[in-house]
Amino acid sequence: MSLRVAILISGGGSNMVTLADSMTGDHPGRPCLVLSNRPEAGGLAKAEARGIPTAVVDHRNYGKDRKAFEGEVQAALEGARADVICLAGFMRVLTAEFVTRWQGRMLNIHPSLLPKYKGLDTHARALAAGDAEGGCSVHLVTPELDDGPVLGQTRVEITADDTPESLAARVLVAEHELYPAVLRQFCMDFRHL
Ligand code: GAR
Repeated sequence: MSLRVAILISGGGSNMVTLADSMTGDHPGRPCLVLSNRPEAGGLAKAEARGIPTAVVDHRNYGKDRKAFEGEVQAALEGARADVICLAGFMRVLTAEFVTRWQGRMLNIHPSLLPKYKGLDTHARALAAGDAEGGCSVHLVTPELDDGPVLGQTRVEITADDTPESLAARVLVAEHELYPAVLRQFCMDFRHL
């Protein structure tokens, strides 16, 4: 039996595409749902084009009521019988209660070499600090933001003429290799637990 992998997005979903497209053949996982908190997220059409069920839970409908928002997300995940969640550019902070429910089964990709630069504007912060390299990390999600155990990282050299945009573009290419590789290994290990 394949592991059922739900992918949560907020935007273009390029990481979602590489994850979904990697789950074929002898891969232990299969995509069961792509869920976005933004109805206009470009990734939704890409998921539909791949025949993956999609769902939208628009956070703006819930105001400050994070629990109600997450209740709907949880219902969609249960409806899809998800075993594993991949956050892939999902730009909502999740409550400790939700994270704890999925702890050990929820992965995230973050565009920095964690523990450096948790949160936003990671590339601008790496450049402002004069770092010689940036990169990306895949980690298990724990209640503290961008803090869980790192499962894989890729380093990307920073050049003298880099802008946050040029660095982000190169890091994104690295993300597209890293995340599918980590997910595959994670699913293989998970099945043997
Ligand atoms: C990616 O660079 C991802 O690392 C980042 O958002 C982008 C989503 O791109 N995630 C975060 O910043 C999470 N804090 P995508 O929608 O094309 O995959």
